[in-house]
Amino acid sequence: KEIFLKDYKLPDYYFQTVKLNFSLGEEKTIVCSEITVFPREEGIASPLVLDGQDLKLLSIKVNGKELKVEEYHLDSRHLTLLSLPRSTKFTLEIVTEIYPQNNTSLEGLYKSSGNFCTQCEAEGFRKITFYQDRPDIMAIYTCRIEADKTLYPVLLSNGNLIEKGDLEGGRHYAVWEDPFKKPCYLFALVAGQLESRDDTFITRSGRKVSLRIWTPAQDLAKTAHAMYSLKAAMKWDEDVFGLEYDLDLFNIVAVPDFNMGAMENKSLNIFNSKLVLASPETASDADYAAILGVIGHEYFHNWTGNRVTCRDWFQLSLKEGLTVFRDQEFSSDMGSRTVKRIADVSKLRSYQFPQDAGPMAHPVRPHSYIKMDNFYTVTVYEKGAEVVRMYKTLLGSHGFRKGMDLYFKRHDGQAVTCEDFFAAMCDANDANLSNFLSWYSQAGTPLVKVTSSYNAEARSYSLKFSQVVPPTRGQPVKEPMFIPVALGLLDSNGKDIPLSSVYHDGMLKSIEKNGEPIYTTVLQVKKKEEEFVFSDLSERPVPSLLRGFSAPVRLDSDLTDSDLFFLLAHDSDEFNRWEAGQVLARKLMLSLVADYQQNKPLVLNPKFVLGIKSILSDSSLDKEFIAKAITLPGEGEIMDLMEVADPDAVHAVRSFIRKQLAAELKAEFLKTVQNNRSSEAYVFNHSSMVRRALKNVALAYLASLEDMEFTELALHEYRSATNMTEQFAALAAIAQNPGKTRDDVLADFYSKWEHDYLVVNKWFALQAMSDIHGNVENVRNLLKHPAFDLRNPNKVYSLIGGFCGSPVNFHAKDGSGYKFLGEVVVQLDKLNPQVASRMVSAFSRWRRYDETRQKLAKGQLEMILSTNGLSENVFEIASKSLAA
Ligand code: ARG
Ligand code: ZN
Repeated sequence: KEIFLKDYKLPDYYFQTVKLNFSLGEEKTIVCSEITVFPREEGIASPLVLDGQDLKLLSIKVNGKELKVEEYHLDSRHLTLLSLPRSTKFTLEIVTEIYPQNNTSLEGLYKSSGNFCTQCEAEGFRKITFYQDRPDIMAIYTCRIEADKTLYPVLLSNGNLIEKGDLEGGRHYAVWEDPFKKPCYLFALVAGQLESRDDTFITRSGRKVSLRIWTPAQDLAKTAHAMYSLKAAMKWDEDVFGLEYDLDLFNIVAVPDFNMGAMENKSLNIFNSKLVLASPETASDADYAAILGVIGHEYFHNWTGNRVTCRDWFQLSLKEGLTVFRDQEFSSDMGSRTVKRIADVSKLRSYQFPQDAGPMAHPVRPHSYIKMDNFYTVTVYEKGAEVVRMYKTLLGSHGFRKGMDLYFKRHDGQAVTCEDFFAAMCDANDANLSNFLSWYSQAGTPLVKVTSSYNAEARSYSLKFSQVVPPTRGQPVKEPMFIPVALGLLDSNGKDIPLSSVYHDGMLKSIEKNGEPIYTTVLQVKKKEEEFVFSDLSERPVPSLLRGFSAPVRLDSDLTDSDLFFLLAHDSDEFNRWEAGQVLARKLMLSLVADYQQNKPLVLNPKFVLGIKSILSDSSLDKEFIAKAITLPGEGEIMDLMEVADPDAVHAVRSFIRKQLAAELKAEFLKTVQNNRSSEAYVFNHSSMVRRALKNVALAYLASLEDMEFTELALHEYRSATNMTEQFAALAAIAQNPGKTRDDVLADFYSKWEHDYLVVNKWFALQAMSDIHGNVENVRNLLKHPAFDLRNPNKVYSLIGGFCGSPVNFHAKDGSGYKFLGEVVVQLDKLNPQVASRMVSAFSRWRRYDETRQKLAKGQLEMILSTNGLSENVFEIASKSLAA
């Protein structure tokens, strides 16, 4: 059943308090809920419809009286209460029985490694008890948990522990009370054998907060970085947004079985253990960075999500886009801003742009859904974060902060909409952001074209912008968008030209700030076509457009290759320096792909080699900037730019360029590896991370040559590594090339780490992602490996998700990759529809490929859709993929 934003209706009944009582057991769990209900308006006589799924109803009472069978109606999705006391507050008591031990969907109450835990967002609470499972129903919760004391010594829920004690029969109980109103999706319960790392944080107003990170005893040592991250996040939110934590206790629990990354349940965040556990020996720099970001993300939700929540699930980006923006800024402030921005924009380009151009394209605020879980997407999250970033770009840091302050002042304790956020931003700044709201309603990545011309006589320079928003499913025609274009102009020495005024819309507009000239201005492009003219320029400048990637658009400018090389060498905006290199690389790769398709010999432009060489040997550059700048755009990014995506050609070209660069810059790469070795103990800080990053990129280039000398070098790095970042990079470098060395080192790595499931997942992923010819057979064998388990999402993401990340193998022309995924999806859907649905998404872009591939992929989608008992999750993605 499809649900539409335009059908939103206020609830007829609100809930004030909710008392839950869980009696946890091995065969069954009994859940008693006692809710005080009040009608929205006096005299409302409508039935009360409660959501419920996979529940066994034991009893219902209203005001203490058991309901008779004719007073309610029960079906597989709802419990409808037909006769209710008129216009007064009443209490509702419901008892249900559930079976968490059989719950493989990992939604609602389930068991992970013997412990009980919950995941309620978006609509999992209905698998725990009958309830109005929607975020605009906010209530005060009390939760009593009762369980066997030996099996489940730790009993946790939201808020404060107010009572605990022992019971007969070896059981015990705990009572938790959360003083803040919340929607049910923020409810959480954990029970199990866990131990905690404890610390404290004193808020700036002097509240002493106990911090606890819970894991099985053997993992406790690996929680130091998570605790560091949590404290840094708490401090940062105070410093940057003036936001303090609001309770005396903050718990984080790490569980190995979790569908997503983590969940911001009030004061009881639950995490996928891969985003909590880290040690230098077992986790890479990327893992450390992800932990910092996600611990921050979930903590920041306490204000953006929990204190102010969403009216309905269409507003998801209200909390997710905003909170991703906040975690991005947090990571930037803790590390390097440019490097973080490059990583975020790359992610947007490789995943969100394709989504926005395919059958699953949807606006940041979707108009409809069948299963909400399918809309926890890169569009809602990452494009949503770009939308928030644009407010900041347009209003300035100070103006953005004023908007945030007003948002909290107006909406604390409420469930609100994206318009409410927009209104707070505008009102706090007396700003008119005209059609900015179309970022929430129009899908598709705008294409912005820029043409420039210099008039030597008039000493003026004109930039003409035109924009097109491509049609997407259900939205054939679009309005122009409000696009902030941050811009600087470079003189022939590569220096920024001071900007004082711009001629636009028949007016000369001053862009000075307090009489001071500025070097980056933000042009507001709002119409289909628009011109901006700069005057008083003694020579043709080189424009640096869309600095810092100021809007999520595809930019097509008339810059020449020599302009781009110039920007790569000089732009004061480091992001745009990197971007200039990427534009050059994309052009180069596309033209080589065309050559390859026409069977022409591949020749690498020597200017490109020189460009890479000069970056590689420029010691004034940040090492991670170098590492990013010498990394070619991914295969997906290039395929995304082609009329018909050709995975074989793109792969051949990317490998060719890599090998060619490695061959021609052998000496430079070797020096880079040697100069960036270190015998120091692992530290997670910028200078050591960038050293490792650069060394690892150089090593991968060298190893691509399949030369004994460099295989030996990689082996040496593998054996001498003292941390996972370097060990794994060396392993990956070796594993690029088939052969005995590869097999031996992979086996060695497994035997070293077989006791550590998180490291084993990396080992699965590395083999799954391999571009080695015919890899599908290896992956099929790995499905049968004793360490693999289809019920564990992380293992599925590593092995199945990893395999789909190798275009040559997933899109193999014989259809073997498609067939493999089709089979797995059907199997997986019976266990865990959310995970199956994420996997089936790999098919959604099938129309981008040639006819042979289209037919094969389509066949698998049809096979999936014809499966009996298919979940709504997979149905939605598969049917929309076929429809478009
Ligand atoms: N709110 C969580 C976050 O921090 C994600 C929860 C997603 N859950 C789901 N079933 N899709 O991003
Ligand atoms: Zn989130």
